[in-house]
Amino acid sequence: MNDVAFEQPNLVIAENNELNRSLGPVSLIMMGIGAIIGAGILVIAGTAAAEHAGPAVIISFVIAGLGCLFAGLCYAEFASMIPESGSAYTYAYATMGRFMAWFIGWNMVLEYLVSSSTVSVGWSGYLVSFLENLGYTFPAALANAPVTGTGFHELHLTGAIINLPAVLLIVFLTVFLVVGVSESARFNALMVMIKTGIVILVIAFGLPHVHAANLHPFIPPNAGSFGKFGVTGILAASGLIFFAYIGFEAVSVAAQESKNPRRDLPIGILGSLAVCTVLYMGMALVLTGITDWRTLDVPNPVSFALGRIASLQWMVLPINIGAMVGLASVVFMGLYGQSRIFYCMARDGFLPPAFSAVHKRFKTPHRGTIITGAFAALLAAIFPLDILADLVSIGTLLAFVAVCAGIMILRRTTPNAKRPFKTPWVWFVAPAGIVTCGLMMFSLADGTWVRLVVWTAIGLVIYYLYGVWHAAPSKWKVANES
Ligand code: ALA
Repeated sequence: MNDVAFEQPNLVIAENNELNRSLGPVSLIMMGIGAIIGAGILVIAGTAAAEHAGPAVIISFVIAGLGCLFAGLCYAEFASMIPESGSAYTYAYATMGRFMAWFIGWNMVLEYLVSSSTVSVGWSGYLVSFLENLGYTFPAALANAPVTGTGFHELHLTGAIINLPAVLLIVFLTVFLVVGVSESARFNALMVMIKTGIVILVIAFGLPHVHAANLHPFIPPNAGSFGKFGVTGILAASGLIFFAYIGFEAVSVAAQESKNPRRDLPIGILGSLAVCTVLYMGMALVLTGITDWRTLDVPNPVSFALGRIASLQWMVLPINIGAMVGLASVVFMGLYGQSRIFYCMARDGFLPPAFSAVHKRFKTPHRGTIITGAFAALLAAIFPLDILADLVSIGTLLAFVAVCAGIMILRRTTPNAKRPFKTPWVWFVAPAGIVTCGLMMFSLADGTWVRLVVWTAIGLVIYYLYGVWHAAPSKWKVANES
């Protein structure tokens, strides 16, 4: 990455500024898919089916996709109004003031940093399965979380020591980021092809093996408590697999380099969401239809399910390899995005200057990147995937709610500002986004709420000790056109 790209940090795809290239709708859709497909479909879908929804997890994918669609349309309006840098943090700063900017930025740490930890834990699960294919058994104590328990009071030790592969992946990618290896559009396209290819292969080869008996009953009866199958189970599963859609906002960032944002923004966001929703539903159908869904709560549900069909065992190795490549790319994007968000926040005075320090030779925000990597590695070393994923989801959902609310506020306060893209039916879409995302938040475990409160409290302490004294007024103002 060079200075040009870095002086205009664009959070996810700085490089396209440097290349000064206009992105077409197809590249935007590819970019969205590249950021979206990851641990959500490759890991969490299994848990969501086995523990909450059974085959009806397919409906959960639709609910979560709808929530993202509503929020995505609001994102698109913000992204088109504030041309400088595309993140919810910046949008909030320009429109809702300092406090909301910090609040959303702090939640985006969950979305990027903690999701890197989450996906690297998913990567570790596929690595262990891959090594098993080759006849090596990775010691379980070194590939699992030492702590587990979704409820806040249920946290307990597991006997494992560390999730070493997850830590090593983060360390490796952090080093890459520090020395300035940025993702090129071509590299991204290759990753997207590998990931999407695996998903399509699984659907194509798996569909003929789907047995109606496995899908019956489609909605397993509620087991007596909220979220344990039945209708509430579908809702709880949608909260979990919401994680699978996180990342589509990358499109709204990239869209600033598109020739025609009014047309390409919605195509990019809606297109990547639509493609992923269809792929996810197909994948969910195959996973729950080819095997007993009760068995899917494993670290590698996709290769596990296909491996149980004798004639599909040849696919286990390619799936494991493809999953590892795909998951690593999501971790990379997360770490990259986080270091850039920290950079923006430090530049605006919310965080100490260390986060915006740029390495003389590498021209990267090396300190912020190393701090990001260290925290991400620590979380990945200690916590299991479900705890981390739920925390990511609740933080991101909260940011989405804020974005949906923000767009309505803005329509009232600056009705005549220039809006290259206008959210259609905003007075339906924005409230619907708040309700759908809010419902998914409420379906998440109590412990996740407690963690969100703790997270917010830590954020507030940092804000009142540091940000409130240092943060400058926003550079970006949205004003009515005269
Ligand atoms: N949507 C991304 C994933 O599922 C974060 O890994």
